[in-house]
Amino acid sequence: MSSIESVLTENRSFPPPVAFARDARVKSLIDYEALYERAAREPEAFWGEVACDLHWSTPWKQILEGAFPETADSEGVRWFVGGTLNASLSCVDRHAHSWRKNKAAIIFEGEPGDTTVITYGQLHREVCKAANALTSLGIKAGDFVAIYMPMVPEAAIAMLACARIGAPHTIVFGGFSADALADRIADCSAKAVITADGGWRRGQVVPLKHNVDKALEGVTSVEHVIVLQRCSNEVAWTKRDVWWHEVVETASAKHEAQAFDSEHPLFSLYTSGTTGKPKGILHTTGGYLTNAAYTTKMVFDLRDDDVFWCTADIGWVTGHSYVVYGPLANGATVLMYEGAPNAPRSDEFGGSGDGQDRFWDIIERWGVTVFYTAPTAIRAFMKWGDQYPAKHDLSSLRLLGSVGEPINPEAWMWYRKQIGGDRCPIVDTWWQTETGAIMISPLPGAIPTKPGSATRPLPGIDVDVVTREGVPVGPNQGGFLVIKRPWPSMLRTIYGDHARYVSTYFGEIPGMYFAGDGARKDADGYFWIMGRVDDVINVAGHRLSTMEVESALVSHPKVAEAAVVGRPDELKGQAIVAFVTPRAGMVADDALARELRAHVATQIGALARPEEIRFAEALPKTRSGKIMRRLLREVASGSTARGDTTTLEDQGVLERLAQSFAHDD
Ligand code: PRX
Repeated sequence: MSSIESVLTENRSFPPPVAFARDARVKSLIDYEALYERAAREPEAFWGEVACDLHWSTPWKQILEGAFPETADSEGVRWFVGGTLNASLSCVDRHAHSWRKNKAAIIFEGEPGDTTVITYGQLHREVCKAANALTSLGIKAGDFVAIYMPMVPEAAIAMLACARIGAPHTIVFGGFSADALADRIADCSAKAVITADGGWRRGQVVPLKHNVDKALEGVTSVEHVIVLQRCSNEVAWTKRDVWWHEVVETASAKHEAQAFDSEHPLFSLYTSGTTGKPKGILHTTGGYLTNAAYTTKMVFDLRDDDVFWCTADIGWVTGHSYVVYGPLANGATVLMYEGAPNAPRSDEFGGSGDGQDRFWDIIERWGVTVFYTAPTAIRAFMKWGDQYPAKHDLSSLRLLGSVGEPINPEAWMWYRKQIGGDRCPIVDTWWQTETGAIMISPLPGAIPTKPGSATRPLPGIDVDVVTREGVPVGPNQGGFLVIKRPWPSMLRTIYGDHARYVSTYFGEIPGMYFAGDGARKDADGYFWIMGRVDDVINVAGHRLSTMEVESALVSHPKVAEAAVVGRPDELKGQAIVAFVTPRAGMVADDALARELRAHVATQIGALARPEEIRFAEALPKTRSGKIMRRLLREVASGSTARGDTTTLEDQGVLERLAQSFAHDD
């Protein structure tokens, strides 16, 4: 039996690393359980205590009001009612006005190898300037601002400046196409867009401003486009455009932040659901920031001397909570890297080699202590080979994290040994755009880990695995993952579609938040996430709806019908397979397949491009005319050997769960 198989069959748990436990905030399983019990007994008092870590301008009158909504006209929950705060005061000012004034807030490394270090004092000045610039352009509290930027410090500055003036931001990942950007800008009627002339990705310039220009052709709400000069890329110019360096650099560095209601919207972030239209997940200030700050402190056991590197792009929720809001609320030093994991530094900045050691090079040079990335990346590093991390001194690392998809035990073991030197605990963190912050994760040092399990819920979070009727299932039985009690950073609505919010999350299983994931809980109370049970697929940690890709395909004039499914993929977790029926008279050949893949990239972005297109004269349907996705999933999976990204046993349970959930199967 191979070592991986023995890990799987024995369900082996790793004892907490002793050295880590000695200094950790929560030192043992007993301490964790005591904290969990206390939070469960008095949840409101617990969250009140947690929220005290933020800077409140007016104290709240009531911690929690309301409950999970049951009908479309019920508003739902309100946290820290009557309290007022400004997120940027908690993340910036209070540190800039303390001993942390000269502490690094952001260490930035661009893909070419250029670097900048911004202290809290400097960050404060930059955020104030950007806030004044936005105000001078007429942006007011409540106006949405879209951000479509590379991973550069100005992206974080833009977010914090929006928060400072109460203008909710909506960040669109730079990999989304102009069409996808247009949909998101239009949905929230953004008044301004902040972008850049371009961003570096694998030595190429991503034409961000060009995409904004295309996106705005059909959008009327946008009055200003603020453009950061990053790549000296030539861009077209219209009268609504202003350069960042002209409006921000010249603005005053003095800005008095006004406090907003705890429930004032902080941001919306679009994510895929089961329909073709992405959902604008709305988060509000007090509750979101409370959980972002709390989880960063607890899960990463953050210290003032840490250098915290979360590799996610700010276009995803992980970038919101663990590149910007969570670490900065804790006064931490964050590392931001602009480019691809396999891009070498340019010659100008001393680059050498093929770049496949770029991450390890960054960790060594900057002394990163906490590293948080996605299983897809870990699997790619494994494939590239042990020699790349081995070339570097990674001894500064003390903790590793994983997020976004189930991590297969083989990748977990590799990560622990090759990156963590068998010394660093791994926190496998389960959460979602909707939850705002980590919900299930080991507390490092306190909770013994099992490779592939996100372990136990955080104190204050009540999760379970239940049947469709909401009845808890027994140990190791598959069921639906739910959250049973409101938590501060839960989404408050789907922007512009409260009815969809209520039915999607609270209408499926009575009285509970339905996460959309299948899971099982083992006899030790450890959670094992099995994947989505709805029509959402997770490709390289990116969440996509099969229907979104189908709508993109059928918008092509040569396509009559399309069905999209995910199949297990050794590297990406899942890969997109599209079954397409061409319109009569169309030739189904490689050229058409290429055309359709390119079409999806234009409609959504390269991340949604199907791995495989299979032409079919007709799609299998039930007697009532519904496409039989389960059958297609089997066909799509049958053609490739399954990787060990999910165990066969889990896959079987998942298929059955998906059948019981999906109404159209
Ligand atoms: O299926 C789960 C998976 O990612 C989904 C949430 O995706 P998104 O909103 O894009 O947020 C990703 C980053 C938080 C979940 O419904 N997922 C996330 N973390 C894990 C995971 N699956 C297994 N293990 C995880 N640690």
